[in-house]
Formats: sequence, C-alpha cells, structure tokens
Amino acid sequence: MTSRPATRNIRRVPNIAFAIVVFTLAAIATSAACSTAEQPKPAASASVAPPSDAAADAGSLLYASSCAVCHGPNGEGQPDWRVRRPDGSFLPPPHDSSGHTWHHPDGVLYEIVRDGGLTAAGFVSGMPAFGALLTPEEIRAVLEYIKTLWGPDERAAQARLSEADPYP
Ligand code: HEC
Repeated sequence: MTSRPATRNIRRVPNIAFAIVVFTLAAIATSAACSTAEQPKPAASASVAPPSDAAADAGSLLYASSCAVCHGPNGEGQPDWRVRRPDGSFLPPPHDSSGHTWHHPDGVLYEIVRDGGLTAAGFVSGMPAFGALLTPEEIRAVLEYIKTLWGPDERAAQARLSEADPYP
C-alpha cells in the first residue's frame, strides 16, 4: 500500500520526459527544415557571392542616373529589344538575368560602357560612350551593380568568362 504514491510519481516522470523529448525533436526538425529551405544552391553561391560591397552600392546610384532611362530602373530593358529596327539599331536590352549582358566578360562590358555600342558599317548603336563621363572606377562600380541583378548561375558563368578577360 505504501508503494502506490511512489509508483504514480515514477510513471509521471517518464511521461513528462517523453513530452519534452518529442517537443525538442519537433523543434529541431522544424528549424532544420527552415534552414535547408533558406540555403542557396551550394555550388554557385560558394564561389561567387553576390557583389554587395561599396562598389556595387555606388554603382546603384550611377546606374539610376546614367543607365536607367534606357535600360529600365530595374535593368528590365525595353520590350522587343531583340528586334532590329529599320535603321539597323536595337532598343536597349535588359541587364538582368533575362538579358544578354551576363554573356560578356568584364573586359568586354567595360569596353562597351567606355566606348559605346558597336558602330561598324551598317550597324547603328544607341548605346552611348561613357568614357568621358565616368571614371574607370565608376564604370567598374556600375558593372558591379549590374551583377547584383543576376542570379547565382549567371554570376558564376560570367565570373568564369572574366578570368580570361578581366577589367582593364
Ligand atoms: C541612350 C540610351 C542608353 C543609355 C543611357 C545607356 N545605354 Fe547601354 N545600351 C543601349 C542600347 C540601345 C544598347 C544595345 C546597343 C547595341 O546593340 O550596340 C545598349 C547596350 C549596352 C550593353 C551591351 C549589352 C549586351 O548584351 O551586349 C551594356 C553592357 C550597356 N549597354 C551598359 C550600359 C550602362 C552601364 C549604361 C549606363 C552607364 C548604359 N548602358 C546607358 C542604350 C543605352
């Protein structure tokens, strides 16, 4: 008879312990699921992090004042940018992942911004030369800003191209 209260207490302890264990496991599982979902794809982001340094910040202001009027405030470009116009020129293309900009290495992008678009015979370009308006640091900054408009795959591909053709 004297052992009954003791038995009841012993039974209760494992029940509480079991509840704590279940609760803890559920919490661990939930946080693991959340952190897995938030992780970017490991391969691309590990090697080429999104540029978020001072150059890209300065470039964002330069982009807004010098480039956005043609290429769009968010780098979305103009509709029908792939269609050649009667004078042989093209409308300003997007600079985000949907465009063609990330197919060029740093060296080529720098030259396009400094010297303007191609003006070979029969080809009229609406892309102005910024060599007299922007310093070399500003040209690099605006291009670093444009890279923040790309996804990890575009950044990684463009970074590989730039190894052979870096900024001058
Ligand atoms: C007056 C309109 C205009 C302004 C302002 C302008 N662009 Fe352009 N840009 C164009 C056009 C049009 C093209 C396509 C030209 C071509 O095909 O040669 C182009 C093409 C480019 C390209 C080549 C893209 C590719 O895929 O080959 C780059 C890079 C570029 N612009 C960067 C800039 C930057 C950076 C600025 C601001 C500093 C800027 N542009 C300002 C009109 C403009």
